[in-house]
Amino acid sequence: MNRKQRRAMRMQGREVAAADGRTQPSVRAQAGRLFGQAVWHQHHGKPNEAASFYRQVLELDPDHAEASNNLGCLLLVQGKRSAAAPYFERALMLLPQLFDDFDSVAAMLLAVNPALGEDIERATRAWPQRLSTGEMLGASGFTAICADALLRRVLESTTIRHVGLERLLTSFRLEFLHAAAATHADGFADDVLDFSAALAKQCFINEYIFATTAEEAEQAQELARMLVEALARDSEVPPLLPSAVAMYFPLHSLPNSQALLKRTWPAALTDLLRQQVHEPQEEAQYRELIPRLTTIDDDVSMQVRGQYEENPYPRWVHAALASEPIALDEHLRSQFPSAPFRPLGNADGIDILVAGCGTGRHPIEVAHKYKAARVLALDLSLSSLCYAKRKTPAAAASKIEYAQADILKLESIGRSFDLVDASGVLHHLSDVKAGWRVLLKLLRPGGFMRVGLYSELARRGIVAARTFALERGYHPTADEIRRCRQDLLASPLKDVARAGDFFSTSECRDLLFHVQEHRLTIPEIKSFIGENGLMFIGFEFAPRMTQYYRDLFGGDRFLRDLDRWHRLEVEKPDTFAGMYQFWLQKN
Ligand SMILES: C[S@@+](CC[C@H](N)C(=O)[O-])C[C@H]1O[C@@H](n2cnc3c(N)ncnc32)[C@H](O)[C@@H]1O
Repeated sequence: MNRKQRRAMRMQGREVAAADGRTQPSVRAQAGRLFGQAVWHQHHGKPNEAASFYRQVLELDPDHAEASNNLGCLLLVQGKRSAAAPYFERALMLLPQLFDDFDSVAAMLLAVNPALGEDIERATRAWPQRLSTGEMLGASGFTAICADALLRRVLESTTIRHVGLERLLTSFRLEFLHAAAATHADGFADDVLDFSAALAKQCFINEYIFATTAEEAEQAQELARMLVEALARDSEVPPLLPSAVAMYFPLHSLPNSQALLKRTWPAALTDLLRQQVHEPQEEAQYRELIPRLTTIDDDVSMQVRGQYEENPYPRWVHAALASEPIALDEHLRSQFPSAPFRPLGNADGIDILVAGCGTGRHPIEVAHKYKAARVLALDLSLSSLCYAKRKTPAAAASKIEYAQADILKLESIGRSFDLVDASGVLHHLSDVKAGWRVLLKLLRPGGFMRVGLYSELARRGIVAARTFALERGYHPTADEIRRCRQDLLASPLKDVARAGDFFSTSECRDLLFHVQEHRLTIPEIKSFIGENGLMFIGFEFAPRMTQYYRDLFGGDRFLRDLDRWHRLEVEKPDTFAGMYQFWLQKN
């Protein structure tokens, strides 16, 4: 599911909530009533009463993400920025899909800490020159940034998708590199160390996407050498040293990374080591355990597998988990109230295939979403599957079976499904329609299929950026992806940074360097649907567009006329910028 769809899903209300939101139903109902009162008071200009109601909600149901968020907003309006920050922090943790709307996250960071906006401006004006923290922030500014717990939380929890903030952080990273290389890299305040560890985590999450000058790269190599030698000699290592190294290389890539685990570190460092040494180790252990269901010998499949082995997509931190699973029929009925689909009515469980499951967020969310789900999650890439397995929470582990397989060969597995979910995958096959037909064969009569495909019209800007990368001969290595991004940002194609996938290495590789990318049009989709006797149920997650469609086509409330959707897309070519994401039913 891409960011736009996840955002729209959140807009549908509280269908999704915290993973562990297990508040008793009666208490939740009471909290719900109080929440209603709070919202009423807020909308009627009574902020103090509203704040008091929100606090009562949170006493009853501390996992009420919207109450936390709204209370944060109220406090912010009242100028109580530092009081607001922990509520935002909590809301982000409870409802990680809030991170998907990174523009709002950035706006929230700046509202809570306005100095950050000024710092971003200074860093951006000076770019590509890196300013020192003194030049950027003044004497006390750095301390204030390091003390910003909300910023630290964001750095640890999601990819930063904001060019200005990225530039500021890139400059900070260089300062940490210099500080750690100084002979006495010790004696930093806890906040500074915590911030350095959070920045190192961000660098790991975005797979080291920040621009690095040649001189800086050499200094970082030197710093890593210092760390390796100090560990080998068993001499003292100031905590800032591994933290700064981890901003440039994952710590597990050091030859003696195990030695790091034998020492005692401050909490922030221990957590960083968990991310960069323990977790990759755990993933490696799964490699031999994942079953292989098919051979992989198609030329394109082999190249695609190679890409995702090197860059599993995406490296995610938090999934958006449903608080209460619902029946698939119920979900479809609420999403497509006027669609004439036939319910599955399958009370004792549904078999779901997630084809091209990537690094697990997708099947984990599916397993949580549908009642009595039994999920087979397949992918070409073992690295992605290992990441997925490590990230699968215990509650979902018994519902998800991971395996390596090529969609093109799936007929040989002799299994069938009530739902096949193939989002963001078919357009990476050598032959989209051949793969699509294989998946249809595995679908039981009356079964549903959820498909996500790239739109030719919506991706025109991405195609221009892909052509830029191709014509200038960049290779899909981390170093060249970094350079290509900076060159794009300095070019007339800089708007490509509006794509969320621009901000981490695996996502940027997926966006601009994919070895195989097909894009389709609605007429092509329509003809496939017709040729295969399928029923089109509807497009997902386009509430604004739904209204626009109705206005354009005289109140047509069925929203299922693909010729009309095509006319709408021609008029508004960004309509399916996320993807065409739609549901079908097999006769
Ligand atoms: C862009 S990622 C999407 C991952 C996931 N569906 C999501 O939405 O997060 C595409 C995934 O499809 C997988 N893939 C591509 N071609 C495939 C094939 N022929 N068979 C199985 N998986 C494939 C890739 O390995 C990759 O992990």
